[in-house]
Amino acid sequence: MQPLIVAIDGPSSVGKTTASRRVARALGIPHIDTGAMYRAIGVAAVREGIDTRDAEHLEELVSRVQIEFIPGERGRILLNGEDISPLIRTPEISMAASNVSAIPAVRRSLVRLQQEMGRRSGGVLEGRDIGTKVFPETPHKFFLTARPEVRAQRRYRELLSRGTSAELGTVLAETIKRDDQDSTRSDSPLSYDESYTVLDTSDLTIDEVVRAIVNAIEASTA
Ligand code: DC
Repeated sequence: MQPLIVAIDGPSSVGKTTASRRVARALGIPHIDTGAMYRAIGVAAVREGIDTRDAEHLEELVSRVQIEFIPGERGRILLNGEDISPLIRTPEISMAASNVSAIPAVRRSLVRLQQEMGRRSGGVLEGRDIGTKVFPETPHKFFLTARPEVRAQRRYRELLSRGTSAELGTVLAETIKRDDQDSTRSDSPLSYDESYTVLDTSDLTIDEVVRAIVNAIEASTA
């Protein structure tokens, strides 16, 4: 039997991680956070002083670093064996991840890794291009959206809860800038088509989002 693959795509701070983790738990399959992998390349580039838009150096970088995502209640991301999970959620690394994700060589390498993981164990994969590029053949595709103000509020609260100081106006501006960049890049831009179920989460609770996704999957696999 083919492993169950669920694609959850959408812009930043739409609640993908929380929803995907809970959907994965409900279905008994791993949660695979593909954004964490782009963030890890962002960390590697920043550490080495590589310009996060420099395609040539980034291609060389991805060819020699080892990225590993370990699914679990608290998924972990390793860079050359080092757990860098606590370092990847800062505004600086968010922008670095968005920049490096526009480089085709970076995408090729990480998409391969994501496909290997998914084929091995199935999973709920969250990202920007899961249903369009990574696993276009899965029938289980969900695109989460929410109004930019709602997403900025969510990110703002998340930053504060991690003890990172933030200003709501700046968070909103960064959210809009990153989504614009992720949606307009030429390689695998954030998008969806008619094969997706679109869920506007602006006025939904996390329980409602999870229930809608799990119900849709159970209905189509029953
Ligand atoms: O989901 P996230 O905010 O952790 O993702 C960080 C960046 O990585 C995001 O701005 C775009 C990029 N990304 C991507 O291009 N494709 C994916 N499948 C996941 C993330």
